Amino acid sequence: MATAKTDRNWDEKYSTGNTPWDSDLASKELKNVLADAKLQPTTAIELGCGTGTNCVYLAKEGWQVTGVDCVSQAVEEAKRKAESAGVNVAWGEADVQNFGADSEPFDFVFDRGCYHCCRRVDLDGYFNTLRNVTQSGSHMLCLCGNPNEESSGGPPRVAEENVRREFEPLFEILHLRPFHFEDAGGIQGPLGWSVWMKRK
Ligand SMILES: C[S@@+](CC[C@H](N)C(=O)[O-])C[C@H]1O[C@@H](n2cnc3c(N)ncnc32)[C@H](O)[C@@H]1O
Repeated sequence: MATAKTDRNWDEKYSTGNTPWDSDLASKELKNVLADAKLQPTTAIELGCGTGTNCVYLAKEGWQVTGVDCVSQAVEEAKRKAESAGVNVAWGEADVQNFGADSEPFDFVFDRGCYHCCRRVDLDGYFNTLRNVTQSGSHMLCLCGNPNEESSGGPPRVAEENVRREFEPLFEILHLRPFHFEDAGGIQGPLGWSVWMKRK
C-alpha cells in the first residue's frame, strides 16, 4: 500500500519548493467559520499542518494547538514560525493515517488539504485517526478539493456525495459549501469544499 510519504512525494514537494498551497496566510475560510461559530478557544489539532501557518494563527487566537505533518522539513519550518511569533504549539511528525491511539480528544480538528489526499491512500486509517482525536461534540473543519470547476491541476477533488458518505457515519455535517482556497499573495486559488461538522 502507498504510504503518506510515497503517495504524493510530500518530502520532494517541500524540498523543491513545489508548495503552491503554502500561502503563509491563515485560511480565510477558517477565520470566517470560527468567527460565525463563536467557539471558545480550547484544544485544536491540525492534521497535515504543513509549515504551520494556521496552527500559529489558532495559537494567537488563544487555542491550545497541536500540529501534525509527515514531512520533517515542514514541521521544522512550523517550529521556526511559532517561535518567531512567540506562541506555543505542540508539533508532531507523524502519519495522520495512523495517529492518536493514545491521544486525548480535541475540541476542534482542522484539515486544509490533507483529507483529500489521505482518502485515496488509506481512508479507514484516516477515519480511525479522526475517531482517536475527537469525542462527541468535537467540531471539525475540512477544506478539500471540489470537482465543480473546469481547470487542470490543483488539489485532488472529492464529489459531494463522497464527502457526505465518508464523513456522515462519524459527524453531523453543519454546512457543506463551496469556497476558494487562497494561494500565495492571497490570490484566489482552486475551488474547494468547506465542510463544517460536529462529531456525533
Ligand atoms: C496541501 S498541504 C496543506 C498544508 C497545510 N494544511 C496548509 O494549509 O498550508 C497537505 C499537507 O498534508 C501533509 N500530509 C499529507 N498526507 C499526510 C499524512 N498521511 N500524514 C501527515 N501529513 C500528511 C503534507 O505533507 C502537506 O503538508
